Amino acid sequence: MDQDFAKAGLSGPVLGVETSCDETGVAVYDAGRGLLAHTLYSQIRMHADYGGVVPELASRDHVRKLLPLVRETLSRADLKVADLGGVAYTAGPGLVGALLVGATASRALAWALGVPAIAVHHMEGHLLAPLLEADPPQPPFVALLVSGGHSMLIEVAAIGRYRLLGDTFDDAAGEAFDKTAKLMDLPYPGGPALAKLAEQGRPGAFRFSRPMTDRPGLDFSFSGLKTQVLLAWQASDRSEQTKADVARAFEEAIVETLAIKCRRALAATGAKSLVVAGGVGANRRLRAQLAEAGSREGFRTYFPRPEFCTDNGAMIALAGSLRLAAGQHEAPAITVQPRWALEALPAV
Ligand code: KG4
Ligand code: ZN
Repeated sequence: MDQDFAKAGLSGPVLGVETSCDETGVAVYDAGRGLLAHTLYSQIRMHADYGGVVPELASRDHVRKLLPLVRETLSRADLKVADLGGVAYTAGPGLVGALLVGATASRALAWALGVPAIAVHHMEGHLLAPLLEADPPQPPFVALLVSGGHSMLIEVAAIGRYRLLGDTFDDAAGEAFDKTAKLMDLPYPGGPALAKLAEQGRPGAFRFSRPMTDRPGLDFSFSGLKTQVLLAWQASDRSEQTKADVARAFEEAIVETLAIKCRRALAATGAKSLVVAGGVGANRRLRAQLAEAGSREGFRTYFPRPEFCTDNGAMIALAGSLRLAAGQHEAPAITVQPRWALEALPAV
């Protein structure tokens, strides 16, 4: 049933489904009217007992939550399922079982409705999330994608034309936050907990290195930082104030490293706009530092609102809607890609 839906004149809002990790996100996006509704269920409390995401539990919980969330989202948008013009879902990268829940439900729904299904790349979703805001960025721009699984700098010539400028050799920025938080006994997920604690930290009490900023290049390496933190923490008096001081110094090291590489990427490409997205994009110090560097150095920074930095269905609905408008959708087979290079995507 690989019909030409565009020629068939099908239109209508796109349902977006995100199930790549530990959040079930659903949204409806309309090309003309924008975001109509979105809902999110976070599994964080369930995984917190284990100190990290347990893939099998994640898949089962997506099964439980997805269809109720689809109904809830449609009802908030005041839509019936038959009003949908397409169903977009995260097809990768992510946990394969979790991806399959969203993919099978979305493909089945699209099939039943006779509308196109659109497989969305999770990181393209993050990258396009700032387009959900008023006054969105226009390509060309540089995107810093910093999440639990990725730390990438991408040159965006157009939507769908992506060139990887820099990547991490080891831990992603969010992973570095999470692992460092864990070794200081902070609750899971560590990133937001560590950032909150850092607000109480005193400047200059500790200093950690800015990895790989002493040589040219746009790649990252964050795994050495957690060892520095561990050694400093173990040699300290382990008081609550010291913990906050260490958290602050760690956050400053990550944020400054990211900011240095962003400025380099802008200089290398000549771009004047910087997009920051992914879970770590919710970090207040990162947002403030990049916005300030931009006003000083003449580039503009674009961030999604914090709730659209972390995983959500809105970014998937938006990315799906843009690809559908460009005539792209899937053949009927259900496939997911736990590993998927962003540069392999076709241009829109
Ligand atoms: O994009 P996301 O929700 O999921 C992935 O695709 O990985 O990102 C989650 C990551 C986690 O590592 C989390 O600790 C981190 O983003 N994170 C933060 C903050 N909020 C979330 N890291 C630093 N500061 C924050 N405020
Ligand atoms: Zn994500």
